[in-house]
Amino acid sequence: MSNSEHESNIAPWLDLARVGVETRFWNIDPDSRELSLDALSSLMGPRTRLVSVTHVSNIFGTINPIREIADIVHQHDALLCVDGVAFAPHRAIDVRALDADFYVFSCYKTFGPHHALLYGKLPLLRDLPSQNHALVANDNIPYKFQPGNVNYELSYGMTGVMDYLRQLTTHDDGNSNVGSDTAVDDRAAVHKAFDMIAEHEEMLGTHLLDFLRDKPNTHIIGWDSADPARRVSIISFTVDGFGNSDIVRTVDEHGVGIRFGHFYSARLIEALGLIRDEGVVRVSMAHYNTVDEVMRLTETLDRLF
Ligand SMILES: Cc1ncc(COP(=O)(O)O)c(C=O)c1O
Repeated sequence: MSNSEHESNIAPWLDLARVGVETRFWNIDPDSRELSLDALSSLMGPRTRLVSVTHVSNIFGTINPIREIADIVHQHDALLCVDGVAFAPHRAIDVRALDADFYVFSCYKTFGPHHALLYGKLPLLRDLPSQNHALVANDNIPYKFQPGNVNYELSYGMTGVMDYLRQLTTHDDGNSNVGSDTAVDDRAAVHKAFDMIAEHEEMLGTHLLDFLRDKPNTHIIGWDSADPARRVSIISFTVDGFGNSDIVRTVDEHGVGIRFGHFYSARLIEALGLIRDEGVVRVSMAHYNTVDEVMRLTETLDRLF
């Protein structure tokens, strides 16, 4: 796993030391502050079984090259598990194109209920032991992964995510051109909705990044352009001479909610040489944010530093 993970994609792997599993960190390059594919290749060995990495760091907002990572991992006969929590609310996921063996994300951050989603390639899921009782057959997927019965309310609530995405596609002109309700149309709706989201995020990100780039005492922590192929609209920064907590408190008073801290990616904060608990100032924007809100933020920041 990388050192730019949320701790939830680190601690469970470290726990496996109890059963003799050795874990290694894939550290960000100290100069580029990115994950180097060469560094990954040199970490892989004959005993490497699994690589687990985030699709997007919740601090940097940068999109990691998952397909290229998957190719390296598979060349070494290992498996790839991807944490998609910070990616899924921003872009369409195509697990086949990514060639991820496992892909996980939290549904409540992707316009759904407090549920989580695990994708796995079918033969791999078949090989995993059941968490249910012995009368549940091992090929009974997903039931075997449930220690008890299905949570019907949350599972059914997930269908609302599709309704929501479909509704977004009609937002511009009141007409959806993605068809009615077959699985193929659902896929088209997902792509159309996330294309619109990416375009809107780029506009929001450009406003904020242009402002931050022009401030000489400000450091953008992550990719400094809003290119939607490279980053999502999670934008972190620090300002020389200003405490992150002070910046957030001041902005709060103007009715704009931004946050500071390590966001449970404390190992990354420390690797960046930042103070663990002060971390970064993070502006987490989504498609429902407006340019007006970003301008309210930048005007407040402009008065501050
Ligand atoms: C990249 C990333 N991974 C994992 C998590 C953990 O998600 P949850 O709290 O839903 O388990 C988060 C939460 O912010 C995250 O940003």
